Amino acid sequence: TTGTIATIATLAAHEGETVTLRGWLYNLRASGKLLFPIFRDGTGTIQGIVPKAAVSEELFETLKNLTLESSVKVTGKVRADSRAPSGFELDVQGLEVVQRVADETPFPISLKEHGVDFLMEHRHLWVRTPRQSAILRVRATIMRAAAEYFDNNGFTRTDPPILTPNACEGTSELFEMDYFGDDKAYLTQSGQLYIEATALALGKVYSFGPTFRAEKSKTRRHLTEFWMVEPEMAFAELEDILQLAENYLSYIVAEVLKKHQADLKVIGRDVSKLETIKAPFPRISYDEAHAMLADAFAKGLIENEHKDGDDFGSPDETYISNQFDRPVMVHRYPAAFKAFYMQPDPQDPTKALCVDVLAPEGYGEIIGGSQRVDSYDLLKSRIEEHGLPLDAFQWYLDLRKYGSVPHGGFGMGIERVVAWICGLDHVRETIPFARTLNRIYP
Ligand code: 4AD
Ligand code: MG
Repeated sequence: TTGTIATIATLAAHEGETVTLRGWLYNLRASGKLLFPIFRDGTGTIQGIVPKAAVSEELFETLKNLTLESSVKVTGKVRADSRAPSGFELDVQGLEVVQRVADETPFPISLKEHGVDFLMEHRHLWVRTPRQSAILRVRATIMRAAAEYFDNNGFTRTDPPILTPNACEGTSELFEMDYFGDDKAYLTQSGQLYIEATALALGKVYSFGPTFRAEKSKTRRHLTEFWMVEPEMAFAELEDILQLAENYLSYIVAEVLKKHQADLKVIGRDVSKLETIKAPFPRISYDEAHAMLADAFAKGLIENEHKDGDDFGSPDETYISNQFDRPVMVHRYPAAFKAFYMQPDPQDPTKALCVDVLAPEGYGEIIGGSQRVDSYDLLKSRIEEHGLPLDAFQWYLDLRKYGSVPHGGFGMGIERVVAWICGLDHVRETIPFARTLNRIYP
């Protein structure tokens, strides 16, 4: 018995028809003369109903003894059922087993709870579970929307190199490699310096690719390899960057809400928390954020006192972001602990014209950006003050010699955004194969 080849996500178009689904046995329940297999096919899951009397003896016995994650082609009639998660059930009529998982080597990820280490060790199999698959589908949409917004708004994608001679975000987190002889080479931390060059060629540009940080810290937000999308605009000031960031994030959240209601349900996300994410976003300066923390400390609402002039710790960011129902844009941090390339605020040169966008619900920084130093002399002295090798930055300094203009942009970490939008505890679930402080396998 075979029917029209279909996928679970498109069953609405096949109600009442006989279809053949190609997938895997996700779960199996037996109740006397009834079997309730659940099949998955990468687009969703569906429960089958198999009364002993309705099928051949052979089919019933094969299915009854089938092992989890065996691959199958299953044929059946699509019946609408409002109680079913997918909205449909399948009255099974035929089954072809493609590969039966051996009884001696059952699928390691059973339906009971597993520890995180075990799951990460089996990540190549863990990705099959409905929740992990749903997260990866949402991630794909976030990545698509992240590029689409720029493609639709006059930005040209220009891909920076991954092997670079210069540090962008500080030298303590560089992955160094030995290949170019006397020239030091590193895996890129950010494409920013290169897209500053292409922005001066093309006006509005973006890059989108993997970036690397030899993070020494083991936190729920840090990966050693992550995907960053970075826009850069010529003739742009901090205000333009703030507006771009709020419109950009609003677009991405709206795309996920439009396309992934079912996946967000599988993940268990409270979507009401996402429906409020619309521009404009609140904006506060570093000084205002510090005052907010000082006040909260005085009232005993937070445990740690924030010292004026220090960066915000993760609990500080959580407190600040909890005061708002959408991402908050914190601008004008002290230049002292920010990157060498940030333009000083003319009103107060101890502050940088920069922004960190903090996601609600304690997710912290998802975007970091700034206006860039546009003066040759200032940039040169910044490079020297930071103890960076001038040689490697000659080309970057050239950009301030040949038609320098106010310009800037930001970087957004895809995994941080996936964690926030999906409401996940840890970034390790936001990328197919996470690379963290102590994990390189699988
Ligand atoms: O704030 P960061 O370090 O900024 C830059 O790299 C700038 N050059 C970007 C620019 O202006 N073009 O990193 C940008 C974003 C962070 O806000 C965060 O979302 C993400 O990249 N990020 C990480 N994500 C996961 N794991 C890590 N170790 C990350 N480090 C940064
Ligand atoms: Mg940052």
